[in-house]
Amino acid sequence: MHHFVPTTISLLVISLHLLRTSSQATPPPTSNGYNCSSDRSIYPCQAYALYRAGADPTLLDLASVGDLFGVSRLSLARASNLTATSPLVPGQPLLVPLTCACSSNLSYFPVSYRIAPGDTYYLVSSKNFGNLTSYPVVEVVNPSLVPTNLSVGVDVVFPIFCQCPTTKNGSLAIVTYSFQVGDTFASIASEFGTDVQSLVSLNGKEASVQAYTTILVPVSRIPPPVITRAVVPQPPSTASVPPSTVSAESGNGRRKGVVVGLAVALGIIGLLWLVSLLGLLLVWRRRRRWEEERGKRSNKYRGGGGGGGGGGERRFERSTSDDKLMADISEWLDKYKVYRIEELMEATGGFSEGSLIQGSVYKGLMDGEVYAIKKMKWNARDELKILQKVNHTNLVKLEGFCIEPDAGTCYLIYEYIENGSLHSWLHDRGRAHKLDWRARLRIALDLAHGLQYIHEHTWPRVVHKDIKSSNVLLDSKMRAKVANFGLAKSGCNAVTTHIVGTQGYVAPEYLVDGLVTTKMDVFAYGVVLLELVSGREAVSEGEILWMEVEGIFENKDGRVEGRIMAWMDKALMMGEQSMSMDSVVNVMHIARACLQKDPAKRPSMVDVAYTLSKADELFSDFSEDGLMVGSGDIVAR
Ligand SMILES: *[C@@H]1O[C@H](CO)[C@@H](O)[C@H](O)[C@H]1NC(C)=O
Ligand SMILES: *[C@@H]1O[C@H](CO)[C@@H](O)[C@H](O)[C@H]1NC(C)=O
Ligand SMILES: *[C@@H]1O[C@H](CO)[C@@H](O)[C@H](O)[C@H]1NC(C)=O
Ligand SMILES: *[C@@H]1O[C@H](CO)[C@@H](O)[C@H](O)[C@H]1NC(C)=O
Ligand SMILES: *[C@@H]1O[C@H](CO)[C@@H](O)[C@H](O)[C@H]1NC(C)=O
Ligand SMILES: *[C@@H]1O[C@H](CO)[C@@H](O)[C@H](O)[C@H]1NC(C)=O
Repeated sequence: MHHFVPTTISLLVISLHLLRTSSQATPPPTSNGYNCSSDRSIYPCQAYALYRAGADPTLLDLASVGDLFGVSRLSLARASNLTATSPLVPGQPLLVPLTCACSSNLSYFPVSYRIAPGDTYYLVSSKNFGNLTSYPVVEVVNPSLVPTNLSVGVDVVFPIFCQCPTTKNGSLAIVTYSFQVGDTFASIASEFGTDVQSLVSLNGKEASVQAYTTILVPVSRIPPPVITRAVVPQPPSTASVPPSTVSAESGNGRRKGVVVGLAVALGIIGLLWLVSLLGLLLVWRRRRRWEEERGKRSNKYRGGGGGGGGGGERRFERSTSDDKLMADISEWLDKYKVYRIEELMEATGGFSEGSLIQGSVYKGLMDGEVYAIKKMKWNARDELKILQKVNHTNLVKLEGFCIEPDAGTCYLIYEYIENGSLHSWLHDRGRAHKLDWRARLRIALDLAHGLQYIHEHTWPRVVHKDIKSSNVLLDSKMRAKVANFGLAKSGCNAVTTHIVGTQGYVAPEYLVDGLVTTKMDVFAYGVVLLELVSGREAVSEGEILWMEVEGIFENKDGRVEGRIMAWMDKALMMGEQSMSMDSVVNVMHIARACLQKDPAKRPSMVDVAYTLSKADELFSDFSEDGLMVGSGDIVAR
């Protein structure tokens, strides 16, 4: 624990020796990342990266750039002195705010990126991320992936280089900057309001800096000054030959050996970073509590001066966003149980076939209780962040988690929901019991309540993004709970670059513009209503269920109810319980409203829940009395 205690050792920038040697042997130049082993106590901190919009032409708005780096559009706009809706021009410099952390002796901000067709580590690093990272280090931080054999859709961590300032030189933050052809230390220093000497002390001699590698720029203002010079991407100089494909293959034998050796070495010592990060955070949290008790809160930024004040003051030299991150994480630690992998192995019989529920979800018995254990990549972090905010009877509850650093795996432990998914209840053939209408109506209402909760009562708002019948689970009383927040993302109007979601449920505007709003969940909810009424799948044999709705409502002869009857699940008519056709027609009207092409015309989940609860009352009245009232077609039994 003592090596977390802050010291006043000045930070030495030590390069990764092996990698530097190797990259000199092979063009193009690459940055090697920054070694943070000499003073881990200054991490994490607020840092920035200067990113030029438009290197990838699809990333010409703040929301896309924010999504790429996993930061909010607003924080990006604020750091770059823009408004959230400002248009961008190609080459426009943006300051991306990062939380810089030290993991296995490398300091970086991890960004999760989903591989698309044609992507290589090199292309994504140099094009999408504007050379703020470099492919050899991407290999190092993703030891479980084979860079020459990437599958589309796999999530890769791209380490955006960064560094935390020491107290000594009085800079408040460090900006990572990709050195461009034509840049000089003098020009950069004047743009960022710093001096050449500070640049040399962090980066070595100017002559040793190669174009397109990163340099560190210390700044004494937060946010740093916004530079205005747009740089139009340069054609590659003749000296640097970009490799045609990724890394290991592109180098000569010697380099390959070095990289592989390094990857192995770092892999062995390295992957404990998750544990050390969590450890660091725990220690941090304790210290903060302790310090709060000591009533030292009045210490402020810049208070430290020479840094001689020791640990106590050091702790306060954090920006508010760091404090927020700490608060978020410490909340998980308070609220959830942290399981050991051995416990999970025992609970699931070593993740045996027999305990597999579905996909990567296993059933496990611990302390006499049954849990659902979901195995994920470490980007489960997003899910944790969201679940810690939501707590509602119609949402599946997260009980705890476990991190297995060697495998880059994270396990989420959920309450176990006995009756499985709505999808299997509706669509599994050979199921003896079908859901009756009353049960389906209850499920529709439960689901509406769960969604209403995440849309209205969380801040920032949560959009689930993957509502479908297989993400709706039924408990022992056949009450519905929404599961699988893996794709959920905070923030209402974020535009995403990756298409997620499930065919047949995805709202049209999302496919066209990538627009994410709560109305996207409303659309998917409308599809689930259709499944409840029709008993059909959202997509079967290429037919998309929601496309059939307009045909049913087309006012040919006014006999909408007849058409709905013909279309609905025959199992409903065979039930013991009597049911009201009015109620079915009502639900179909709600579904139709939810499926409007124009998201603005769709009702909110509040409206839906209200209307449905009315329908539910109506229905229970009729059914209890055995009364059947309908304007035209009446269905009994
Ligand atoms: C932010 O931009 C506005 C104009 O858009 C300018 O007046 C102001 O000085 C800028 N602030 C900083 C800190 O650069
Ligand atoms: C980090 O570097 C220190 C030496 O400064 C070394 O003792 C330690 O083992 C390294 N840790 C990792 C995870 O590389
Ligand atoms: C960082 O430097 C230390 C020596 O100070 C070394 O032990 C460690 O392996 C280096 N870490 C990395 C990731 O190269
Ligand atoms: C990144 O560096 C490569 C050379 O390694 C260069 O060709 C490319 O243009 C750079 N990308 C950007 C966005 O500057
Ligand atoms: C590439 O990956 C696929 C699936 O991930 C695997 O089946 C295949 O064996 C791999 N090929 C090589 C050469 O590693
Ligand atoms: C701090 O600045 C002085 C001169 O301004 C320089 O000699 C020294 O190396 C710097 N230290 C660090 C850690 O940057």
